[in-house]
Amino acid sequence: MKKCVIFALCALLLLPFSSAAADTLTVYANDVLHAVSPTLYGIFLEDINCAVDGGLYAELLKNRSFENENLWNPQHADHWDAWSVKKWEKARVTLETEAPLHENNPTYMRVALEAGGYARICNQGFGGNLLRGGIPLSMGESYDFSFWLRWDETAAAGGKVAVSLMDTAGNSLCGAPLEIHLAQQSESGSWCQIGTVFSAEAAAGAVLSVTVSGQGTVELDMFSLMPQSRIGADWPGGGLRADLVEALRALHPRFLRFPGGCVAEGTYVRTDAYEWKTTVGSPETRREIPNTWGGMLTMGVGFYEYFCLAEELGALPVPVVHAGLLCQARDVKDPPLTMEETKAYAQDILDLIQFATGGADTEWGGLRCAMGHPEPFDLRYIAIGNENWGAAYFSRYDILSKAVKEQYPEITCIVAAGPVAEGGLIQDSWNNIRRRFPNDLVDEHYYMDSSWFPAHVSRYDKYPRATQVFLGEFAAHEPVQGNRRPNNLYAALCEAAYLTGIERNSDVVVMSCYAPLLSREGEVDWTPDLIWFNDGEVYKTPSYHVQQLFSQACGTELVNSETDGDLFQAVTRTETELQVKLVNLSDSAVPLTLRLAGVQDQTARGSLLTGEKNHANSFARPDKIAPQAVECACENGEANLEMPPYSLLILTFSLAENK
Ligand code: AHR
Repeated sequence: MKKCVIFALCALLLLPFSSAAADTLTVYANDVLHAVSPTLYGIFLEDINCAVDGGLYAELLKNRSFENENLWNPQHADHWDAWSVKKWEKARVTLETEAPLHENNPTYMRVALEAGGYARICNQGFGGNLLRGGIPLSMGESYDFSFWLRWDETAAAGGKVAVSLMDTAGNSLCGAPLEIHLAQQSESGSWCQIGTVFSAEAAAGAVLSVTVSGQGTVELDMFSLMPQSRIGADWPGGGLRADLVEALRALHPRFLRFPGGCVAEGTYVRTDAYEWKTTVGSPETRREIPNTWGGMLTMGVGFYEYFCLAEELGALPVPVVHAGLLCQARDVKDPPLTMEETKAYAQDILDLIQFATGGADTEWGGLRCAMGHPEPFDLRYIAIGNENWGAAYFSRYDILSKAVKEQYPEITCIVAAGPVAEGGLIQDSWNNIRRRFPNDLVDEHYYMDSSWFPAHVSRYDKYPRATQVFLGEFAAHEPVQGNRRPNNLYAALCEAAYLTGIERNSDVVVMSCYAPLLSREGEVDWTPDLIWFNDGEVYKTPSYHVQQLFSQACGTELVNSETDGDLFQAVTRTETELQVKLVNLSDSAVPLTLRLAGVQDQTARGSLLTGEKNHANSFARPDKIAPQAVECACENGEANLEMPPYSLLILTFSLAENK
């Protein structure tokens, strides 16, 4: 954080205003209004914009298991995606499904060779094309590589498989290739896993090159290449990209909602619904399904890994399961589960809770232990449905949530209130919920124009307090420029203004998270997004900084505060500190007097986020809009300062005296 000493003392000396002309914010530090929810700020991770596969997931090979399907044309299963046969002689390379590695993982590659034959097959990674290797190698980094292999007796006589990482001109980037002489392997006829470590001798875009030679039949499946400097290398799925995990950790999320969003519901047909059970166990036994947003969900990050990530971040896990319906907002092909089917499906949700919390002696708790986590995960919530509404939803939610409450009364069920902020649909949802599920947590989602947010800062002031809200997806949307909605400062400040209202209502809004979280440059399904990345870089948006600043400076109690001006504000405290949050959405500086009765003389620390309204960050200028450290003097219970145009200021004062 850049540091600049500004404000109070300087302002007193330099600014041409008298405190009589300034706005005032009066803070009654000892007048506590209510507790602030300890889970107020969290994150929502969905595999949209290649957030997970091709992003957070450390796997560098695309379509590693030949399961890729073409979402838009199910007749055309694009199992060759990212793979190509570069050279061959006396060889036939095909994709097969007979006697696969696992029934959930049906497709594999077969190379059938006549005597003296060979075939060279390449994977170009997530960012590759014919001219560019898309596997990003970093000089000096080591990479864990593995794949599964099966061969017949003829190949056992003299067959060979050679694997290397090459540039597109065919030069090795990791020294000598891995060479497997099948005659030296123990047995033919069954699948075996082979692994090695490659060390990169250059920083380059690579392709994985697999050359099979000899005679007979060699079959290959489930390739994997991951940098060793990943997080979660001991998780069965293999782990996560470290720089992206650090960006998430720095948000101090109190919870992690996963795996969607629409992803949690599935794609168009019932057989492609997201079922948590086929996302756990050994990776080669997990079932890939088409991702609603395009590409495939490899499930290398499955429910176990999402739970581990939550734990890694110090966040509570908030799993989302479908409610027996495919996405209601899409033109899906299959009807919802019948009521009988829904009753049976309830067991899957109970099994998920057992997976997360059950002992080693239970079926699903035992699987969690076998996967490497004997301790239970700290599961307190389960969301049943995403952006659902109407009788079709509430009748199924009723069955499913009742089953959970009967067996696990300590788990809070999260009920969807639909995909909109206003109008008949959400009104109808709330009517249903208040009548039938008043003790459940209500998942509101809305993406609105930036200006909507400050205009509705008091949305929750009038919400009855009996039923609590989870603002599970929100973002301020600016008008589209080119083909994107920009992540500019103004949108971020509108969100900040709104969050002051959320904090002031944090007795009823107990959780909130921005959406979407991550976007891979070049793979954009949705804008704006909180964090952008490419193969090697990450940049944070102004909205990210807002989330981080609010999350870092979130007190435990809301205190009474009032302003006579147009600034947006919320003030919280802990036993020892007072956090003052202020947002100026206007194009003029606002002189401000802070009245802080009872706060001792001191220089408070703080963060300022400001700049040009339309400015945004980018890979070239990642810190164009970034928080600056500031200080502010408080004397005789008063601080005079100036809020710059378009700014968020958060100041933290120490409180020596007890309340
Ligand atoms: O956040 C992107 C999408 O927005 C989510 O998948 C869905 O829940 C909402 O419509």
